[in-house]
Amino acid sequence: MDNLLFSDSFINGEFYATDSRFSVTDPATEKCIIAVSDIDEQGVNNAIDAAHGAFVKLKATNATTRSDTLMRWYELVMQHKQTLAALMTQEQGKPLHEALGEIDYGAGFIKWFAEEAKRSYGDVIPATDDTHRLTSFKQPIGVVAGITPWNFPVAMVTRKVAPAYAAGCSFILKPSEHTPLCAIALAYLADQAGFVKGAFNVLVSQRAKQVGKMLTDSAQVRKFTFTGSTGVGKQLLAQCAGTIKRTSMELGGNAPFIIFDNANLDDAVAGLMAAKFRNSGQACVAANRIFIQRNVLDTVLNKLAAKVAALKVDNGFAANVDIGPLIYPQAKQKIQQLLQDALDKGATLIGDNSDLGGSFQNPLIVNNVTPAMDIYHQEVFGPVLSVIPFDDEREVLALANDVPYGLAAYFYSQNIQQVYRISEGLEFGMVGVNEGVISNPVAPFGGVKQSGLGREGGHQGLNEYLEEKYLCIKV
Ligand code: SIN
Repeated sequence: MDNLLFSDSFINGEFYATDSRFSVTDPATEKCIIAVSDIDEQGVNNAIDAAHGAFVKLKATNATTRSDTLMRWYELVMQHKQTLAALMTQEQGKPLHEALGEIDYGAGFIKWFAEEAKRSYGDVIPATDDTHRLTSFKQPIGVVAGITPWNFPVAMVTRKVAPAYAAGCSFILKPSEHTPLCAIALAYLADQAGFVKGAFNVLVSQRAKQVGKMLTDSAQVRKFTFTGSTGVGKQLLAQCAGTIKRTSMELGGNAPFIIFDNANLDDAVAGLMAAKFRNSGQACVAANRIFIQRNVLDTVLNKLAAKVAALKVDNGFAANVDIGPLIYPQAKQKIQQLLQDALDKGATLIGDNSDLGGSFQNPLIVNNVTPAMDIYHQEVFGPVLSVIPFDDEREVLALANDVPYGLAAYFYSQNIQQVYRISEGLEFGMVGVNEGVISNPVAPFGGVKQSGLGREGGHQGLNEYLEEKYLCIKV
């Protein structure tokens, strides 16, 4: 197996080491994988300067050249798929087959934006008199900085860096301190693919606040993009206000998953299993509140309980594993607190909640959840299904929308009028209709309300890194 295990930040095409180190830990074994160096202030400033220098060069390149470079990056990521996936399972914990799927998904963004690089069209605007010609065209915003989370250590990086490079922007990435290894490997491969030096810098640090502050305060950084919690997103937005940066925010969700009584119940249960248990439930788009129409509740619960009981919890490298460890022990503690609160307030538990040790959590179903319980309002971010029985369509639509978030929603129905009513009525950026897996590099991913700003993926994803310039020419 080739070696893509690196321990230092990557700035201007070179590794940058410091004396201060911290451990990146395997969540399954709780053992240190490698001690990585924590970036210092000088390193952050170097990265900003390098990205600025790279932007000057990049904006002079043509779209075809950038597209070809991205395509080489895509090919290298795919060539190293096994190694990258193993690195991901080690630092993040997800089952190896899911990590392999994430490499395909993440590389898909690189390929998509390699293609979209060539399609950044402008407009010809019909003139309002005989002496002017009006047009508009797009130019790269400039230096971009971003912070990415630990739950998808490859895909959350590529879906920001690939469109930035396609547009002609340089990038400074601060990946989660829990999963920096995939990010460094991606930057190394981008360099091998021929990225302009300094166009993709990775800052490894466990001091996210300080590094984030330096990046948001810098006037050289013209755009900030973040995937993570709504609380941190609000703080970063406030910090970006000082220099009026463009921002993209992919924040928290509290996805409803509605099963109507006319649904194909086997399909609905299969869709729910996919929407809930991908990455052990650690996704912002994970189904969080499961609304089941009361007259099919028992049937659905019986089907679900059988499937949930069959899930295998183990180290992500074990054969046939479905659920890996959670990212760290505190994640399990939070789930246990949510469960206790729900049970104290009258919910009922289906499944075995015995302690598996470490960060391993058995998948569970909690029935009769109500809005009085914390588990209803917070993202569980783990393998626990909260079930809320409902009686009619109007009631469930109001409940589904009654949260400050609006990222993903799902529902199963075979009634075409209902499909339109609910699709239009749900206040969410993405809706899965008779489908539990909606993420796709070719489609716009993003939320409304407090779930964020902007879209990633799709042709929309490129525009997030472009400014439109209007030309008024007197003839
Ligand atoms: C997330 O929900 O955390 C991102 C997952 C995705 O891109 O599907």
